[in-house]
Amino acid sequence: MARATMFFPPDFRWGTATAAYQVEGNNTNSDWWAWEQEDGHIRHNHKSGLACNWWDTAEQDLDEAAEMGTNAHRLSLEWSRIEPEPSLFDDAALDRYRQILQAMHDRGIEPMVTLHHFSNPLWLVAKGDFNSGIVVDYFQRYTAKVVAALGDLVPKWVTINEPMVYVFMRYLDGKFPAPSRPGWASGREAIGHLLRCHAAAYHTIKEQLPEAEVGVAKHTAVFQARPDSSKIAHWWAERISWLFNEMWLASMQDGRLRWPVGRGRVKGLAGSFDFVGLNYYTRHYVKFPPFGGLLSQEWDDGTIMSDGNCGEVYPTGIYQAIHWATKFNKPIFITENGLPDREDQLRPSFLLTHLREVWRAISFCFPVMGYYHWSLVDNFEWDRGWTQRFGLIEMDPETQERQWRSSGQLYSEICHSRSLTTQMAERYAPELLATMFPG
Ligand code: BGC
Repeated sequence: MARATMFFPPDFRWGTATAAYQVEGNNTNSDWWAWEQEDGHIRHNHKSGLACNWWDTAEQDLDEAAEMGTNAHRLSLEWSRIEPEPSLFDDAALDRYRQILQAMHDRGIEPMVTLHHFSNPLWLVAKGDFNSGIVVDYFQRYTAKVVAALGDLVPKWVTINEPMVYVFMRYLDGKFPAPSRPGWASGREAIGHLLRCHAAAYHTIKEQLPEAEVGVAKHTAVFQARPDSSKIAHWWAERISWLFNEMWLASMQDGRLRWPVGRGRVKGLAGSFDFVGLNYYTRHYVKFPPFGGLLSQEWDDGTIMSDGNCGEVYPTGIYQAIHWATKFNKPIFITENGLPDREDQLRPSFLLTHLREVWRAISFCFPVMGYYHWSLVDNFEWDRGWTQRFGLIEMDPETQERQWRSSGQLYSEICHSRSLTTQMAERYAPELLATMFPG
């Protein structure tokens, strides 16, 4: 066995990621809050409640993040807090965000701020949100307000988190708060409006902060047909991959809407991103013909699955996603990567194998500038409530008590040393030694 150290560049961003609704608690003006109150929407009717109580005590988890050795964190702002009623901006909420952002700087943690992460003000939903053209003006105005209030503290921005997941879960799957008109036609319209919101926000930020880096966090999955499938099944998997992974970024690149979203150009959309943010979790096998669902629920023997059969652990996919994203000729950040694993049985090896793939990509000079692990601490997992735990730090929502998982210790060693080493594999995932450090 070779003893080796895989070094990362000195300016690499070692981060974690969270979203406002999932950690802050008591976001009572959000559509998610209303949705949670009706039985049957959230697994076991769990409630977000205080969540991780970040609205009051984010600084304590930021202390942990600093101790872990991270130098970056991706968080989101809750629009429904900042503008609880149309045109009524809450300065106290903006002040609290200033405190949190300042607390990050004080701890050497660079903020990356997301403007929209799955949650809407209730008043916006009443106006039809992404099915009404007016949303673009509202989003632009919210962005302008936020940039004026917080911009000096925020070097990196994500306009929209996972637009295609959002549309799929809300309009087709019904697992996210219902839109006024569910269904595919309405979902396609929403994608068009989300693209327009993105373009408007991009320019609003850049006008006030020309040096800021602005992008999206694009969920990117590997979609494949099973190797022994027909040619048409492989073609179908490629179409799904194009629709889910590529279409959004292609439109951002050339400014054109395309089938199935629409036609024509969107003003300001072409080239409206300074980096590609990739949220990578897993690989899916695509079914053909797609009777009873798009994705196969069958897995090969020996496939490593995360909690609740939530997804295959497939580290090669993060390399494939990075390789694919190089076609956009922009810096790349891994804006999310993680897995639900309450007992922390898989997360240590997950971290090592995924980061090894990131390192491999960097070794080929692919411009990966940072990695933000989802998540720092267990948080409210949308329609799955508290049943899934993604944290490097375990958190009990009843008591708010925290405890580092073993993977938190490992990530800390990785961040402090900016490397992956044989000793880490020996200590945290000896089963990887033969494949990770052969020789
Ligand atoms: C979302 C997060 C979510 C994570 C794990 C991502 O799709 O951006 O909000 O918690 O997946 O499910």
